[in-house]
Amino acid sequence: MTKDSLSVTDNRTGKSYELAIKNDTINAMDLRQIKVNPDDFGMLSYDPGFKNTASTESTITYIDGAKGILRYRGYPIEQLAASSNYLEVAYLILFGELPNQAQYDKWEYDILHHTFVHENITDFMKAFRYDAHPMGMFIATIAGMSTFYPEGRDIHDADNRLRQIERLIAKTPTVAAFSYRHLRGLPFVYPDNDLSYTGNFLNMLDKMTQIKYKPNPALERALDVLFILHADHEQNCGTAAMRVIGSSETDPYSAMAGAAAALYGPLHGGANEAVLRMLVEIGDVKNVPAFVEGVKNRERLLMGFGHRVYKNFDPRASIIKSIADEVFEVTGRNPLLDIALELERIALEDDFFVQRNLYPNVDFYSGIIYQAMKFPIAMFPVLFAIPRTIGWLAQWQEMLLDKEQKIARPRQVYLGSDERDYVSMEDRK
Ligand code: ACO
Repeated sequence: MTKDSLSVTDNRTGKSYELAIKNDTINAMDLRQIKVNPDDFGMLSYDPGFKNTASTESTITYIDGAKGILRYRGYPIEQLAASSNYLEVAYLILFGELPNQAQYDKWEYDILHHTFVHENITDFMKAFRYDAHPMGMFIATIAGMSTFYPEGRDIHDADNRLRQIERLIAKTPTVAAFSYRHLRGLPFVYPDNDLSYTGNFLNMLDKMTQIKYKPNPALERALDVLFILHADHEQNCGTAAMRVIGSSETDPYSAMAGAAAALYGPLHGGANEAVLRMLVEIGDVKNVPAFVEGVKNRERLLMGFGHRVYKNFDPRASIIKSIADEVFEVTGRNPLLDIALELERIALEDDFFVQRNLYPNVDFYSGIIYQAMKFPIAMFPVLFAIPRTIGWLAQWQEMLLDKEQKIARPRQVYLGSDERDYVSMEDRK
């Protein structure tokens, strides 16, 4: 018997099986040999929410949730946040290595020169209701882009794939900024390709009558760091959606619209929006204890706390907390910070949260910074979606190039009625 195997005895039949172990996992298909009768379907594993199922091998992002470690292609998130910039990190995530100067210059040029969108996309976005949620506009516009770039469907051509990836990274800030300007009833500002990726985004958000917009360097850098922190997070809900949709060989625009839709929910990327609404509702530090009691009585969740993977601390939350002061120096201190700090202090001491390993996640502090930067709360999930674009696309491409991947199609355990005959309306009770 090989050491790298798992012995399983089926007590229904007394039969034993040896399942191969590779990379600390067993292959779920090996369970199918476990049967009571030869015509049985075979054993399945039941895993709602995929809590313990690896759907892929990946070389992009490493997380050790118990130790609070996050690395892109092996590089610690702390080092990337301190020394890199979003476009360099995007290159790293996509190609697997840091670029040399020539590679970086070309990459930056290519991205910054694809930032304009077709005028029909502009018109399309103007057609949304005046108060449309910017994430709804974002998702719909990304999906709509598949009709502007039908060649995107040729997903097996590497050059063509790269062109769509560059387009999406370049144009998502434009779509995001247009959704913001629409919400504010302001004219759209076209990209300025002389500015950095985040500098240009700020330009499209804020520019009014200036001839040349100059982004505040502290806010530009803070946003860039936030973008780095959000660039990828392995097989989360949105990325899993990207891979599932992409597995049917749909084009990247349609797949990414689905991934963004998954991100929109308050249990995922919409949590930063939910955190802010929660802090506003609490309203004052003195109301925090009563709120925490409500959480412990299961009346509601403490938004921005808890994580499927991180059961110690979320390293992104620590970095965000550390850049908050730099932002507040420019914007003034966000009064909601005191409520957040008090919530964190009480929660980290309280048994309910300690026993369940509930710590602040990335969304707990990002919203406070975004609000200090004067973003409307509804923009928060969009601010998450912009940098996550590279994660989605790199994971999508990895899936397409992975020979083991198949169309995603989970199984179910059917517990419904057995076969029965149709009953005509008059005979129904
Ligand atoms: N507030 C109060 N209790 C919580 C919270 C919370 N935020 N999160 C988890 N719990 C409790 C659960 O009720 C459960 O308690 P029980 O075992 O007594 O029933 C226990 O902690 C374990 O929680 P699960 O829901 O099983 O954990 P899961 O891994 O399924 O969920 C999730 C993770 C969705 C992030 C959850 O912690 C949550 O809803 N958090 C609030 C929303 C949020 O901040 N989401 C952002 C996540 S980060 C991101 O997506 C970018």
